[in-house]
Amino acid sequence: MAKRETQFVCQQCGAAHSKWAGRCDACGGWNTLVEEAVATGPANSLAKSGGSKGKGRRLEFTGLQGDSREIPRRVTGIAEFDRVCGGGMVPGSALLVGGDPGIGKSTVLLQALAALAAGKSGKTYRSAYISGEESLDQVRLRAVRLGVESAPVELAASNSIRDIAAALDHAGGAEIVVIDSIQTMYLDTLDSAPGSVSQVRACAQELIGLAKNRGFCLVLVGHVTKEGVIAGPRVLEHMVDTVLYFEGERGHQFRIMRAVKNRYGPTDEIGVFEMTDRGLAEVPNPSALFLADRRNQVTGAAVFAGMEGTRPVLVEIQALVAPTSYGTPRRAVVGWDGNRLAMVLAVLEARCGLQIGARDIYLNVAGGLRISEPAADLAVAAALVSALTLEPMPADTVVFGEIGLSGEVRPVGQAEARLKEAAKLGFGTAITPARRTLRQAQGRTGAGKPSEPDSIALRELAHLRQLVAMFEDTAPRPARVLGPAAS
Ligand code: TYD
Ligand code: MG
Repeated sequence: MAKRETQFVCQQCGAAHSKWAGRCDACGGWNTLVEEAVATGPANSLAKSGGSKGKGRRLEFTGLQGDSREIPRRVTGIAEFDRVCGGGMVPGSALLVGGDPGIGKSTVLLQALAALAAGKSGKTYRSAYISGEESLDQVRLRAVRLGVESAPVELAASNSIRDIAAALDHAGGAEIVVIDSIQTMYLDTLDSAPGSVSQVRACAQELIGLAKNRGFCLVLVGHVTKEGVIAGPRVLEHMVDTVLYFEGERGHQFRIMRAVKNRYGPTDEIGVFEMTDRGLAEVPNPSALFLADRRNQVTGAAVFAGMEGTRPVLVEIQALVAPTSYGTPRRAVVGWDGNRLAMVLAVLEARCGLQIGARDIYLNVAGGLRISEPAADLAVAAALVSALTLEPMPADTVVFGEIGLSGEVRPVGQAEARLKEAAKLGFGTAITPARRTLRQAQGRTGAGKPSEPDSIALRELAHLRQLVAMFEDTAPRPARVLGPAAS
């Protein structure tokens, strides 16, 4: 009897092992190896049937120049969604949407499909929604709730790639296809269970090949693991053209769609949505929304003029400094990087003489946004100093700038766009890196002389000490503030 060949495949990185082990040698993941049958696909047979000298057609090489046309795009008419896709979906491309369960992936994609089918952008597209997770009734109920049940979306519930391929592989088929989700699909030529590395990889490969052949836009929904990456092999992200992450804090109604990879457009672009009882609503002006609940004269709050991709976004950064009740002071950060906070605290302590390190510190980015820009350093420092001195920041002031380890305030990119957005929202003052360095920075990149909006006054800082001094000027109690921490 012929022995059936199996191998043990890591469900995290896709590495194949001949023996089971508790830990994957390649990625170090624990208990991730699963036994799967060795696939005897065309790759094996090509090597066996005479290798490169087989029946392959000789390739024609061409130059880089050619009459390349503008990429045609299929626009949904939901501006926030089109923006993250780089201006619309490209025919024949594959897009992967990842996100926590219940964040709204199925909702936003059903809305996008309905918009495409109903011609929200002025042109109608044949769109198909294939659900492997929910029954037809569940999807229909959601459509009613979203108020899009009259849109001519073609709906099917299936898990079999063979059936799906048969439905899609003909001329005049769908132009946009959503597969919800790739982890529930299976290919009957493989032995492993749906959701395993080899199934996910094979199903995605099959669908992507079909999309390229038939020219439809393929949208795959992918689950994310506890660690926040798309479940299944990392190769899935390499196979598709665009990867979008849909994120948001559970308790907040804001949802942010972020492009982390895009072969047809810029990454770092975000789309902002709000979850309502009738689905996801676009938020064309996120700054106004993020600042909506802001109150004046609050200590420990500073407005940061940030950038998300090409779009300026103003958010409030809140800090609380409290006496510590344990041996080690607590640090709790929501929406920002804890290491970066530690650095700002160390600089405040070592370079500006503030006694802040021995207290509990809580930092929060209001509205559930997650910031990764170093340009937020100065705003964080302002919120911290305000919380420590119990002096509120002036209400009409925005802050941005990076802080170096010696306490110098360093220039950041796109200062002009940040200032414009702040002026648009009625802010009168901006605390920024010193303009001389601003100019130099822009001169280096060839952007020329910066042109700040006239309606906003700049307070330029070269060193973090100047920021601390601004609070001391207004605070009549420096002795208490700068004295030793409660002893
Ligand atoms: P869903 O799209 O099913 O999430 P995913 O596909 O990412 O798992 O979103 C479900 C959540 O959205 C659920 O918690 C309910 C909420 N929701 C609304 O608040 N309003 C709505 O109109 C809809 C359709 C869903
Ligand atoms: Mg879903």
